[in-house]
Amino acid sequence: MQVQTGSAPTETGRWIGCLTYQSRAVSRPSESELRQLVEEARARNRSLGVTGMLLYENGRFLQTLEGPPDGLEQVWDSIRHDERHRDIEVLTEHMVSSRLFSGWDLLLYSREDRERRAGRASDLAPHALAHYVPGLAQLALDGDDLRINARLAGIAEQGWSADDIISHLIEPVARAMGDAWLADRCCEFDLTVGLSMLQLAGHAVRTHACTASLRRSRYSILLATAPGEPHMLSTAMLADQFTDAGWRVEMAFPPSKEALANQVAAQGHDAVDIALSDALPRQRALARLREAVEACHRASPGHLVVVSVGGRMFAEASASAASVGADHARRSVGGTSLRLAQLLRQGRSLQ
Ligand SMILES: Cc1cc2nc3c(=O)[nH]c(=O)nc-3n(C[C@H](O)[C@H](O)[C@H](O)COP(=O)(O)O)c2cc1C
Repeated sequence: MQVQTGSAPTETGRWIGCLTYQSRAVSRPSESELRQLVEEARARNRSLGVTGMLLYENGRFLQTLEGPPDGLEQVWDSIRHDERHRDIEVLTEHMVSSRLFSGWDLLLYSREDRERRAGRASDLAPHALAHYVPGLAQLALDGDDLRINARLAGIAEQGWSADDIISHLIEPVARAMGDAWLADRCCEFDLTVGLSMLQLAGHAVRTHACTASLRRSRYSILLATAPGEPHMLSTAMLADQFTDAGWRVEMAFPPSKEALANQVAAQGHDAVDIALSDALPRQRALARLREAVEACHRASPGHLVVVSVGGRMFAEASASAASVGADHARRSVGGTSLRLAQLLRQGRSLQ
């Protein structure tokens, strides 16, 4: 298998390889031989960071493996030389940005296993997301990626975390698709295409759920013009954006840095944005802006205040956040509420 190491980021910072193949058993393994094979495979997969699923039915194997290119390459090299199976046919091989079987060193699926699980399932209270599983499995087997993504986005909007969606929805859907294959209700092609789609949807969910939860944040912000600054265009535009994003918003047009600091100290905001003019370069105002930023930080000891700055010089990158001691400089108004929510979260997790 030739997998290239990509440079684009994933949830762990690196692309992972994903390979699905089918093969025929040279002689039918007994249930205990199958279990032993899987036990040994799990230990090795775990040590190499490989996860996946192995389906066995009627003398046929179908396996999906995912992992860092090096680890995957090693496992695959062993598997393709293993004399317990033949007619090995690679169905798909690609790089993906998130795992489908994140919690499984190697999930075994065989008919006996399925029957055992069906018996056990009735004793367990189903997870609240369980009722979405059959419909989503069908969409995946139909290769309907638009509807898969729309449905998952809707579920993320309800407030489910990406981890919940992945472990209680996407992984069970993959298993339901495995069941469909074992019961001859779909062919290998539908299964592998559907699994690839789920993998992409899992990545989209991580991004979407993260964005959705940031949108729901209940932080508060003081939107201020720089002391003495008469222009207030971006402050007004930011007010709409932060209000839409669910923040508690207050606006201020302080005459001095002391007045601004007093307001920050009295009201305990999570964040402050200090805006210079969007129209005029205010080179000479930078020193005073730095003092205002410092005053805001000093006014909130023990309470994390993220200070963002904006104005024409920051938009044109002729000044930076660091040059005035701020945590963030806006290049544009767009996306500021998400960025500040992110900074607050990071800051709080470090506190
Ligand atoms: C159908 C099938 C699937 C297998 N899946 C894995 C696997 O996921 N991981 C693994 O380490 N070994 C797996 N094995 C076992 C390997 O082929 C090999 O026997 C084992 O990794 C030891 O490797 P080595 O012979 O190169 O030392 C599988 C074997 C078969 C027949």
